[in-house]
Amino acid sequence: MLSFGFLPECPWAALEDNCYPERNRRRFTKRAIDNRRVCLYRHMKTLGIPSTTWGSAFDRALFYGQVPVEGMKMIFSEDWKTFDRNHMWHPYTSMRTPLPVYPVVAAKGVRLVLEDGRRLVDGMSSWWAAIHGYNRPELNKALKCQIRSMSHVMFGGITHPAAVALGERLIELTPPPIEMVFLCDSGSVAVEVAIKMAVQFWHAQGVVEKRKLLTIRSGYHGDTFGAMSVCDPVTGMHEIFSGILPRHYFADAPGCSFGDPWDESDIVSFADLIAAHHGEIAAVILEPIVQGAGGMRFYSPEYLKRVRMLCDRYDVLLILDEIATGFGRTGKLFACEHAGISPDIMCLGKALTGGYMSLAATLTTRKVSEGISSGMPGHFMHGPTFMGNPLSCAVASASIKLLLESPWRERVETIEMQLKEGLSPCASLAHVDDVRVLGAIGVVELNHPVDMARVQKRFVDKGVWIRPFGKLVYTMPPYIIGARDLTRVTRAICEVVSEE
Ligand SMILES: Cc1ncc(COP(=O)(O)O)c(C=O)c1O
Repeated sequence: MLSFGFLPECPWAALEDNCYPERNRRRFTKRAIDNRRVCLYRHMKTLGIPSTTWGSAFDRALFYGQVPVEGMKMIFSEDWKTFDRNHMWHPYTSMRTPLPVYPVVAAKGVRLVLEDGRRLVDGMSSWWAAIHGYNRPELNKALKCQIRSMSHVMFGGITHPAAVALGERLIELTPPPIEMVFLCDSGSVAVEVAIKMAVQFWHAQGVVEKRKLLTIRSGYHGDTFGAMSVCDPVTGMHEIFSGILPRHYFADAPGCSFGDPWDESDIVSFADLIAAHHGEIAAVILEPIVQGAGGMRFYSPEYLKRVRMLCDRYDVLLILDEIATGFGRTGKLFACEHAGISPDIMCLGKALTGGYMSLAATLTTRKVSEGISSGMPGHFMHGPTFMGNPLSCAVASASIKLLLESPWRERVETIEMQLKEGLSPCASLAHVDDVRVLGAIGVVELNHPVDMARVQKRFVDKGVWIRPFGKLVYTMPPYIIGARDLTRVTRAICEVVSEE
């Protein structure tokens, strides 16, 4: 009988390394494979998928093992990519002339398996999130365990162990005096929550004029309205909405790169703005040390120290957006540790669940939470439907445990050294402006925007998954990547960049 999602009654359904068809082919006898084939035919019939549409995908599914039934339907329907092209939005992609998308049917370790059987070494960690790689037994287990008790329950008027355990862990890990946790849905929402916390804090104190934000250029904080309003007005991709976004203050982006000698003049633009407008500024918001989607820039920890000092001097809250940098990416657990400072409000997301589910957190101090609760209306004005979703919380706790029990520091250091060496040949190319590496992030900045469709295809042809944007070709691989796979990534970047 057909059951939910997988094909459990098939003898091969429990196959662990389902992404390695060749290996499985060797391990199983012809008879076992024939059994599987019969089993699969039966299921396809039950699903009502005409055999004329099965094609060669049948054999691939046969060897991959646990292919979701719904996914299977898609694999066997000739039309699914046409449907995708005609109806499905992809991030920042035209619906009229969409860039090609690559069909992925499985992912395991550091490999993405394409529908045609090709396996790509992942150099993106699914946008900074999948730090442990894909299909980790520990994370799968945490989710299955949690499903047995409950997948979701509202957080209003109810609490549950998965959320509390995660909250405890986050407070333990983040720098004091952070000790209050607000769980929400995604990075952008965490930023909205942080902004609302800051504004409501001052409102509750009767300081209603303090409702503006101060940030730095080249920042990126997400795609929702509050978040867009503090993204760089040009590189932040939201220029089109500028007419309806609230206007905030933007200081120059830090000029001092990470590792460069500190130059005091670098903070002048920020210092001038905060001095002039602190009476109306509720909070400063910025990405610590690494500005991600706004330009992949790494800046001096001294800058961050000055920002903290100035916020204290002028009574302005400091929001650090660690959504991209959190959980070890820069070589420290949180990037603010490079500067030895702590924020008043901190946003976490992306790698929080090891890339398994959408979950984010906005953490703050007791001073802020008490401040908000002491004024009208006496509580914080936010409460999403999926706040504290038990599945997301369970997998987040398991991901944090996996990270802390792994030699993640050594791994990130090793990746850093290899990225420095592997990407260095790009520096001598005439059309390359800069090559920079920090922790498990390697960036090659060209002097012109890349031709996305062509470059993406070149990477896929070379067996790696790299998704450039604008002038930037960059990698932030899962921490578990081995030396050989990382060499494939860096070699592919050097080759593709040299062709540009
Ligand atoms: C620093 C930073 N903040 C916020 C976000 C938004 O997160 P999400 O895409 O989960 O909404 C991103 C996403 O790239 C980010 O890099």
